Amino acid sequence: MAKSKLDELVSFCKQAGFVFPSSEIYGGMSAIYDYGHHGILLKNNIRDCWWRSMVQERDDVFGLDSAIFMHPTTWKASGHVDSFDDPQMECKKCHTRLRADHLLEDFGINADKESIEVVNKYIDDLRAQGKQIKCPNCGSTDLTPAKRFSLMVKSNIGSPTDELTEESVVYLRPETCGGIYLEYKNVVDSMHPQLPFGIAQVGKAFRNEIIARQFIFRTREFEQMEMQYFLRPEEMAERYEYWRQTRWAWYLDLGMDESKIRWFKHIKLAHYASQAYDIEYNSKFLGGFKEIEGIHTRGDWDLSQHSKFSGADLTMWDEKTQSKILPNIMETSVGLGRLVLMFLDHAYNVENVDDKTRTVLKFDPRLAPVKAAVFPLLRNKSELVDKAHALAHQLRQIYQIEFDDHGNIGKRYRRQDEIGTPLTITVDFDTLEKDEVTVRERDTMAQERVAISKLPEYLRAKLGF
Ligand code: GAP
Repeated sequence: MAKSKLDELVSFCKQAGFVFPSSEIYGGMSAIYDYGHHGILLKNNIRDCWWRSMVQERDDVFGLDSAIFMHPTTWKASGHVDSFDDPQMECKKCHTRLRADHLLEDFGINADKESIEVVNKYIDDLRAQGKQIKCPNCGSTDLTPAKRFSLMVKSNIGSPTDELTEESVVYLRPETCGGIYLEYKNVVDSMHPQLPFGIAQVGKAFRNEIIARQFIFRTREFEQMEMQYFLRPEEMAERYEYWRQTRWAWYLDLGMDESKIRWFKHIKLAHYASQAYDIEYNSKFLGGFKEIEGIHTRGDWDLSQHSKFSGADLTMWDEKTQSKILPNIMETSVGLGRLVLMFLDHAYNVENVDDKTRTVLKFDPRLAPVKAAVFPLLRNKSELVDKAHALAHQLRQIYQIEFDDHGNIGKRYRRQDEIGTPLTITVDFDTLEKDEVTVRERDTMAQERVAISKLPEYLRAKLGF
């Protein structure tokens, strides 16, 4: 079978040390992935850029790292236990689990967040018109009717021999913001913020997704970067617009081509939301615009539900109105793995150089996993190798550096291009005499000689930090 575009990216990510299928020696786990050395460096860089813009550079947003396990009532109060589910069908032939709303999309039908009765009616209507939904895996049209399938992942804490009962069940959080609502009172009491203010966190979330092959776009274990902004109801419209613009600008600042992203306005909304826009990215590997980030207004749903279920007073004193109020909330929410996929997709270029192809990831230097690589010209000349090691060691105090002495220089350039390293530095025989190195730029492939004493300053100017 011909390799699909997505297969090309999946095997590239594995071979270049970005993303590996999880538990591969046991046959793998569907929709679960591990990040290799270059993948975790890229992921951490994206996370740091997000944290910097959402927390470090602001005085109205506070950081939090709440636990994955929360009191089970959290998810009853939030509505997730009762209504966080997807319409699932199963292929009777190959037993693949399928998302009915995704299958209906192929017929131009938007069944997002419709009731199960409506979803099954759409399917029956198609059949009546002689159109059949097929299993994308084996092509069979023999599918079960759609039924609701909860996305909540259950576990239990306590004795390992305990049976999983309704009382012992705990949920792995399906979104990180639950922890923010439960800690909001402690943040208010310890940081004494005035409205409006935000709380941000990065952490793991878990959903029992019904998966079609989408690589790290949709996984069962993933990381979210969420910011919940607490405000007076009358401030919502203006702040919502402000955060939409702020998040859009974040993508452009990191080198995103503006023609590759767009807004999608949700008409049908999640149970907690009253307004929802997504930022979508036009992916060459997934073949079209896909949701990357959601920006939602949540009104007072979360705080009033948690107040009702816990009995706690979740109002706060508002200096401006000199009264106690229950703040409204709007959120920005983005998957970190989804951003890894988007930035890889965006940076990935295959070029023709001297009748050979070179794969190059044109990352913004802030995102590049490795900032510079150091090569000795020849690996069997110890004076060059020692000098290159010493230089790499010196530069590692400032930047993520890779040392490489495998194969010829051309191959080393290709390997660094493939992981998006902006600069490569070669130690040659002249270096031993003049203390100068050759620095090559990833995108232009231009080379220049630079004195070792000037290298830190040179790198700072080229990388921009
Ligand atoms: N707190 C709001 C919330 O969780 P969501 O639209 O369900 O809203 C927000 O998710 C973002 O989280 C999505 O836009 C996406 O980037 C990411 N996300 C959601 N489910 C995901 C999954 N299964 N795999 C990877 N990322 C996911």
